[in-house]
Amino acid sequence: MADTIIRTEFAATSAEVQGNGAAMTAYLAAQENKSLLRFLTCGSVDDGKSTLIGRLLYDAKTLFEDQISQLHQDSRNHGTAGDDIDFALLVDGLEAEREQGITIDVAYRFFATPKRRFIVADTPGHLQYTRNMVTGASTADLAIVLVDARKGLLEQTRRHSFIASLLGIRHIVLAVNKIDLAGYDEAVFNRIVQDYQSFAKGLGFSTIQAIPLSARFGDNIRTPSQNMRWYKGPTLLDWLETIAPETGQLKQDAEAPFRFPVQYVNRPHADFRGFAGTVASGQISVGDPVIVARSGVSAAIRYIVTADGELETARTGQAVTLVLEEERDISRGDMLAHPQSRPQVSDRLAATLVWFSDDPLRAGRQYWLRSQTDQVSVTINALNHRIDIENTETQFAQLPADQLQMNEIGQASLQLSAPLAFDPYGQNRATGSFILIDRLTNATVAAGLIDHSLRKASHIHLQAAKVTVAERAAQKHQKPALLWFTGLSGSGKSAIATILEQRLHLAGKHTFILDGDNLRHGLNSDLGFSVQDRSENIRRVAEASRLMLDAGLIVLVSVISPLAGDRALGRRLAGDNDFIEIFVDTPIEVCEARDVKGLYAKARAGEIENFTGLDAPYERPKTPELHLNGQSHSAEDLADKIEKYLNQRGIIHSFVDEGWSI
Ligand code: ADX
Repeated sequence: MADTIIRTEFAATSAEVQGNGAAMTAYLAAQENKSLLRFLTCGSVDDGKSTLIGRLLYDAKTLFEDQISQLHQDSRNHGTAGDDIDFALLVDGLEAEREQGITIDVAYRFFATPKRRFIVADTPGHLQYTRNMVTGASTADLAIVLVDARKGLLEQTRRHSFIASLLGIRHIVLAVNKIDLAGYDEAVFNRIVQDYQSFAKGLGFSTIQAIPLSARFGDNIRTPSQNMRWYKGPTLLDWLETIAPETGQLKQDAEAPFRFPVQYVNRPHADFRGFAGTVASGQISVGDPVIVARSGVSAAIRYIVTADGELETARTGQAVTLVLEEERDISRGDMLAHPQSRPQVSDRLAATLVWFSDDPLRAGRQYWLRSQTDQVSVTINALNHRIDIENTETQFAQLPADQLQMNEIGQASLQLSAPLAFDPYGQNRATGSFILIDRLTNATVAAGLIDHSLRKASHIHLQAAKVTVAERAAQKHQKPALLWFTGLSGSGKSAIATILEQRLHLAGKHTFILDGDNLRHGLNSDLGFSVQDRSENIRRVAEASRLMLDAGLIVLVSVISPLAGDRALGRRLAGDNDFIEIFVDTPIEVCEARDVKGLYAKARAGEIENFTGLDAPYERPKTPELHLNGQSHSAEDLADKIEKYLNQRGIIHSFVDEGWSI
């Protein structure tokens, strides 16, 4: 079973790595009683990664006879190792696939020795994009860092070691390879080991085992090399068989608290409702209590169902359907957890990002954030720092930065469009990781590791009021609603909202206007017009309108709110109340010609930056409830139109019954 390959992507599908694939499940079942070590190999191109993996499979005696004779034949025909076996041929098939443009992030190979079973993440690609490395490292216990004895430590050695540390790997094997080409020289080995140890001081590794070896000739792979009698340490396979990964800082999967992201709700018929997903960490048994992370709703497990029948207990990596004792409102994107060890829930996070894309990260942009649980829109509010990996003197200094280029690593503050259930990455790799996706190209642009929530008081839970929202609204004889006016500066939003509010007020409705200009004199006086400040502006406006909806009011919001993701927050916070997005669509030329506040002239003169429509974007609403033409109609006419619409929707029609006329 040497050459079983499963492909995966970081975070989004990394549950698969842990055993979702049928091949892996079968393999693991057969080897159940042996302990498991997951590792990956990394280092610079040409340090001999493929040869090493091939050699390990060969020396671990996991290759089948026919594979071996094929290998002999291929080595003679196409190998680069003379009459010897070219072990790289065993694994280079993946390179070939990559060259043909088939995307493979990581291939996982399984092998076993009499003492232990292994999963090795093979991260092909001569471009050595950190992306593959990150994916492989996200589930590994140990990293073999390959160094070419002739070259010593290279930038890639340092970068990969740093990423290994970042991703929670606590055990390093420093494999000083090609030592045959350095005359099996002890001094060469010692110098590299010393360099590495002083470089890795701050990286928190529990063990760094340096081994001089030749993957090509097998020195110190399985048997101690006769060419290096000066080396008294273990061979590579000895070390891999005996290292105890539990001594690392990360909890082993089974000990970690139970986490179950719901991938979908399985409802084949009315009597069955199951929640399907993969156990991200911990375990769960029939009868155990669970809680829904975001809502706090609790239940107990009735059955655990799999394709092969029912289970008493499900463990990390198993794909199962959970059936609860009680009917509960749970949907895709929820996370089930152990009630006494709940994940955190927050919409503001500090996270470390490893940037993959050619297009650099810039603060202020919006992406999709996909975790094992959910996918939400996210704004990069600020780039807090970049980590300096290149400069070996400064030991990973945190530098101020306004961008992250490809392969760079830094920490950012994120604003999510909806709260996410998570654990900090240091506590749980599965629920603490995510990827960022470009909204236009759908490309994965970064891997993210959650450091902590930025909500200042995450331990505070909601208090239920005794007077309900419905009671407050009933007292006012109205249905609360949120009327959200969006459009360019000078489009007429505030003029229309003001007329409409006056009419609603005269008709006895309880209303309130939240106007961008006005709020920026008080609640939002600390905010400017950068994308981050605008997102924060809209977040506060949306939160304030939610309070007013709870108080039973009809709320009119008038803010440019140029980004769709920010407006979506308003819609989400409106909850079950009516949310009416009103797009006041007035062409910029018209707004500029009106220039009621003289701001367009100032912006043109360079006195105001980031002016919406000029040097800052406005994303037109795609499906607003009302799309008004602000050029050809007066504010009164447009207010009429909205009134009609509100009547039709039943939001204000009650005054007709009560004899009001509007
Ligand atoms: S938003 O973009 O964050 O939604 P908001 O509606 O609160 O903006 O404030 C917009 C108002 O601020 C405009 O109507 C205009 O009077 C004023 N303003 C000042 N600077 C700018 C700018 N750079 N871009 C747009 N509006 C600006």
